[in-house]
Amino acid sequence: MKTLVIYPGTFDPVTRGHVDLIRRCCEHFSKMIVAVAEHTHKKAFFSLPERVQMMKEATQVLPRVEVDSFSGLLVDYMRSRRVNVALRGLRAVSDFEYEFQLAQMNRKLYREFEIIYMMPDEKYTYISSSLVKEVAALGGDVSEFVPEEIRPFLMAKFVKAD
Ligand code: COA
Repeated sequence: MKTLVIYPGTFDPVTRGHVDLIRRCCEHFSKMIVAVAEHTHKKAFFSLPERVQMMKEATQVLPRVEVDSFSGLLVDYMRSRRVNVALRGLRAVSDFEYEFQLAQMNRKLYREFEIIYMMPDEKYTYISSSLVKEVAALGGDVSEFVPEEIRPFLMAKFVKAD
């Protein structure tokens, strides 16, 4: 039985959809490493320490979760942590093509690499980190989309003192 799983992502910022997925997966593994990536194909808006801090606060009530960060290749980090099972979320068919490429490339780089996909609750399927940032930047209420602990981080970036 596998007891350790890794959930890699940019988490820029972590959303309620991510946390829903973490909760679901925790039911099936005794430990989960949530690994915040420094290098992704996107330019991150929040710094790596900010993204790690946000994830720590959003998962503080989940004792099986360890939050860590990594730079470089995901597979190298996974080898270093002796874990070969990764979790990714699928919200819609549109996620599939990118996830398929990511999985195949990772398996080329690390033969023992396995991936499991889970779907968040349907009420979170339309949420993305980009949309959350856009809504926050334009003064919209994001409380439905991000954990309570994340709102102050967004406010600090987007609500400027007069
Ligand atoms: N709920 C809400 N949103 C979700 C979600 C869920 N359950 N699952 C995914 N998303 C959204 C995110 O909000 C994000 O939205 P955005 O594109 O608007 O920012 C998007 O889907 C995916 O983001 P995230 O889950 O943070 O992962 P990612 O695709 O940014 O992560 C890495 C990619 C980090 C796994 C990948 O870039 C990587 O492994 N990097 C390390 C370097 C490396 O090894 N590169 C080679 C890869 S083969």
